[in-house]
Amino acid sequence: MKIINIVGARPNFMKIAPLMAAYEKYDNIEALLVHTGQHYDEKMSDLFFRQLGIPAPDINLEIGSASHAVQTAEIMKAFEPVCLAHKPDAVLVVGDVNSTIACGLVAVKLGIKLIHVEAGLRSGDRAMPEEINRLLTDSIADMLFCTEASGVDNLRAEGVSDDKIFMVGHVMIDTLLKNLQKAKESDIHQQLNKAFGIDCGAGYAVLTMHRPSNVDDPVVFGRILDALEVIQNDMPIIFPVHPRTRKNIAGTALGDKVEAMANLHLLEPVGYFDFLKLTSNAKLVLTDSGGIQEETTVLKIPCLTLRENTERPITSDIGSNQIVGTETQDILDAYSRLKDGTFRQSQIPPLWDGNAAERIVEIMAEQIGERA
Ligand code: UD1
Ligand code: UDP
Repeated sequence: MKIINIVGARPNFMKIAPLMAAYEKYDNIEALLVHTGQHYDEKMSDLFFRQLGIPAPDINLEIGSASHAVQTAEIMKAFEPVCLAHKPDAVLVVGDVNSTIACGLVAVKLGIKLIHVEAGLRSGDRAMPEEINRLLTDSIADMLFCTEASGVDNLRAEGVSDDKIFMVGHVMIDTLLKNLQKAKESDIHQQLNKAFGIDCGAGYAVLTMHRPSNVDDPVVFGRILDALEVIQNDMPIIFPVHPRTRKNIAGTALGDKVEAMANLHLLEPVGYFDFLKLTSNAKLVLTDSGGIQEETTVLKIPCLTLRENTERPITSDIGSNQIVGTETQDILDAYSRLKDGTFRQSQIPPLWDGNAAERIVEIMAEQIGERA
């Protein structure tokens, strides 16, 4: 049985790593890895291959950045010949990025089985490019692997039949649990002390932001910065900056505002071990990332999500996540409650136990292996 696995953007690497490892146990599975090249900076891509032990991609489509239509179309054009040449039994896509839907669409149009890992998540917000990618990918997938119960409920409500849906837990959390020990050895705290004089032992916050609705809109971005200005008076804020965000603030009034905050410390995007060390020791994480809401839930670190909604409701239902929106006062109110110690404890969602990839590959081997 031949399976082509797709990665393209940063959050895909943590999700594919345990799957590539799980295939190793099956002599009858040939797993190829295709990188679309959606993310290409060393610190957004290659670094994760090295750190997470992901095999080098068999094929890199080297698509790079472009508008949604151009990027999606170029990935499709480049991926179709790969499918025609390799004739896989299935194509496996993860998450909700443009590479996910582009490769998924190519596969189903060629009559190749499509497997979606992290299926069924819904924010209900169709202005979010990822929500469109999720809806479309799930509507054409043959096997849908879910991380949380809301995913199963959403798929059923959309008419997906039960025999296609599998609740397996979360491959991204497999990666987190596997690498916690290695992350402890990261020297990022010492580096921050050397570079900025930060005493990480005295408490700090971690910030990430890259959602277009936040960082492409100067008004929203400005409101968030107003809240950060207050928080940085209490503790240093460590901010590994996503390239989209870096591009948007360079040479703008927002950039000046950021520069003026003495305790907001901008870094290049950091590697997985450094990031995990930072988040697992933080007093607080502020983010608009999807995956970081889930990682902080497992780490039991308070997370304030700078969005109006989440497609990962388990993280706020039982985890350490709070959806606080982007209004300055709302962010500060949530921050005050946290300071008062009224932030609730986190529970770890069912099946987020480090074994999701093994469950997925076992099910795939049974179901697709029979037909291959
Ligand atoms: C993409 C995903 C988003 C995901 C995020 C993870 C889509 C629609 N969006 O958003 O769901 O949460 O990745 O990080 O698929 N750039 C670089 N170097 C790189 C990559 C990007 O400089 O290696 C810059 C380019 O200017 C590019 C911009 O970042 O135009 C945005 O990149 P893109 O992949 O289009 O979207 P992201 O915002 O990264
Ligand atoms: N991450 C990282 N370095 C950083 C920022 C994030 O290693 O500087 C990791 C983080 O731990 C998580 C993943 O990147 O595993 C989340 O990716 P991102 O926020 O880019 O995408 P999203 O989850 O929002 O799609």
